[in-house]
Amino acid sequence: MSTPHRLGILLSGRGSNFLAIADSVAAGRIPNAEIAVVISNKADAPGLAAARERGLTAIAIEANGRKRAEHDAAIIAALKEHHVGLICLAGYMRLLSPGFIQAFPQRILNIHPSLLPAFPGLDAQHQAFDYGVKIAGCTVHFVDEQLDHGIIILQRTVPVHETDDSHTLSARILAEEHIAYADAIARVLSGNYVIEGRRYVRKQ
Ligand code: GAR
Repeated sequence: MSTPHRLGILLSGRGSNFLAIADSVAAGRIPNAEIAVVISNKADAPGLAAARERGLTAIAIEANGRKRAEHDAAIIAALKEHHVGLICLAGYMRLLSPGFIQAFPQRILNIHPSLLPAFPGLDAQHQAFDYGVKIAGCTVHFVDEQLDHGIIILQRTVPVHETDDSHTLSARILAEEHIAYADAIARVLSGNYVIEGRRYVRKQ
């Protein structure tokens, strides 16, 4: 087998998407990959502790009042030091600077808890619930310089039930996020897909 693809995970919070990715790597659902490093901008992020418990390299790189570009430069250096080839934002609640995105062209993925382009930004599940949508879901996309805008890799949908509140809906979406992220990473690493305009399609 060829050298494993090295994933870098960026997170800010609980890290359930990171754990789903880690489980999928371990189970071979993301073939020929390994998690090279987990980085958080919050030293007390539960996801960082979970990564350490799993024996993964997990580091906090906090902004500490630095400008965004300076903070990002420290993260880029850590990703390069760990020879990361694909970056997965997993609840990383900080905008990336243009320099960060340019350092890893089409090599940064994000998961967002809505069917983009609907409901970009914060609290997407609550936005969708309050809007009254009947179908909700999640999107895994490449990161570009606009918020929640990059090329869509895949989406998964869930129904919105009459009995839902925004919390029950969020939980239903999160379960799909965990499936979607692993599938999207496997798709990107497979090398079987290409970008055509804004479409991410299987090679002919
Ligand atoms: C997830 O729902 C993810 O889609 C969302 O944050 C949550 C992180 O949960 N991300 C965004 O809203 C990004 N705009 P997790 O820490 O348990 O993976």
